[in-house]
Amino acid sequence: MGWNSWNKFACDVSERLIRETADAMVSSGLQAAGYQYVNIDDCWQVSRDAGGTIVADSSRFPSGIRALADDVHRKGLKLGIYTDAGTLTCEKRPGSLNHETQDMKTYAAWGVDYVKVDWCHAEGLDPEVQYAKFRDAIAGAGRPIVFSICNWGVKAPWRWGAATGNLWRTTGDIGDTFDRMSVIGFSQNGLEKFSGPGHWNDPDMLEVGNGGMNRNEYRTHMGLWALLAAPLLAGNDLRTMTAETKEILTNPEVIAVDQDKRGVQGHRVGQEGPLEVWVRPLADGSQAVGLFNRGEGATNITLEFKAIGLSSPVKLRDLWERKELGTFQSSYTGEVPQHGVVLLRVSK
Ligand code: GAL
Repeated sequence: MGWNSWNKFACDVSERLIRETADAMVSSGLQAAGYQYVNIDDCWQVSRDAGGTIVADSSRFPSGIRALADDVHRKGLKLGIYTDAGTLTCEKRPGSLNHETQDMKTYAAWGVDYVKVDWCHAEGLDPEVQYAKFRDAIAGAGRPIVFSICNWGVKAPWRWGAATGNLWRTTGDIGDTFDRMSVIGFSQNGLEKFSGPGHWNDPDMLEVGNGGMNRNEYRTHMGLWALLAAPLLAGNDLRTMTAETKEILTNPEVIAVDQDKRGVQGHRVGQEGPLEVWVRPLADGSQAVGLFNRGEGATNITLEFKAIGLSSPVKLRDLWERKELGTFQSSYTGEVPQHGVVLLRVSK
């Protein structure tokens, strides 16, 4: 769990933004809710020096990355950085091709805790081969670093990702629209068998709070990501977020589903046109269930308990409303708003 600069700020990154974001992560309560990585995406780097060492943009990061990492660590947080497996990053900054070992050593010396490796300008390269070079470079760099593979699902990274990194993007980029978010999120069904503790499918970073979706749609986004055991990387401006955004990002019962220690990714158990039912088994024997309405207008959706292997009676808690619904026999019917979700914890 953490934050990444790209969805909101794109190339407009600076040490000031990172420091202010780290401060906001603490003061807003996101850190207490479990968020810890503050990740700089593309555009922090400008060149290589005569020895080939990567050089940060000195106008945007005048103190340097090492001093920035120290600041972030002092707040009890961790710092992430970004590079690319090809010759250039997507924004045409120097990539790490043929500098894999050197760059991972540099990051480790700076105190970096997380690296995302992108896949632009990598024509003709095999991702399974190239990403393994970063894995080995990180292993030899002398510091634990989370390794995020970002090759947009090219060559089915879920098949080799667990042997290579800690998380791997399964699709192209998310956008701050209900259509794009839901195309990505609901397409994750079937990938659950590849995910587990320490090696996760990554359906991309959160758009919660960026303004393109309404409250029900952001609840769907966050709730679906929790059922998917997805990495939760906020992508909004933490310094100025509304109470509503904060409430969605920090709901402890939704986060508990996402971070459940059994680490099983949820899957779809029912679909009727735009209405979908997803389930995720949890460590304490209960199950998280999402009743999703991707269609227009509010609709009732019924969960038959036998569809998730339960006999009556069953206890239900609504995780977004944070209230007990009571004990039910054989089924439960909830009214689900347009583009919304009723997120339940189901137990005996
Ligand atoms: C894309 C990547 C995005 C972001 C962007 C930066 O390839 O999927 O998450 O990192 O590059 O240029």
